[in-house]
Amino acid sequence: MAEELIISNSGSKTERYNTLIPQIQSLIAGESDLIANLSNIAAALKQTMNFFWIGFYLVKQNQLVLGPFQGPVACTRIDFGKGVCGTSWKEKKTIVVPDVEKFPGHIACSGASKSEIVLPAIKNNEVVLILDVDSDVINDFDAVDKEALEKIMHLIEGLL
Ligand code: SME
Repeated sequence: MAEELIISNSGSKTERYNTLIPQIQSLIAGESDLIANLSNIAAALKQTMNFFWIGFYLVKQNQLVLGPFQGPVACTRIDFGKGVCGTSWKEKKTIVVPDVEKFPGHIACSGASKSEIVLPAIKNNEVVLILDVDSDVINDFDAVDKEALEKIMHLIEGLL
């Protein structure tokens, strides 16, 4: 298993994702434990993309419960349909929020968070977990992030 990431800090966002994704594949290839893999994926994304907050929420007994993450302390439980995370769970799709203040019902775990992207991982047509990425800059997520993070979610779906 790779214990160090090769990261092109100088490259464009696309280049950094392109360097990272095969390394995530290698990181998870030799490990069967979901939480261990989600932990390393969160760390690898934080290190490569320098996100303000990145983490997973896992569906447990009709709630999203905080899982592996990197960044400031966060809310531990989110109900179905609530906030951006609960809405992504309900709608089973990626949600990009350019300005969190304009998303009705947004849950502010940190006042510093300004924009957000949330993506679900689905098995047997049910959401099993979601990835939440927060930025302290407005309008920080675009089609490049959506496409790359969706690829990572497909890798995670392969573990479920
Ligand atoms: N903002 C999210 C809550 C999770 S935190 O940002 C880590 C939401 O509205 O669902």
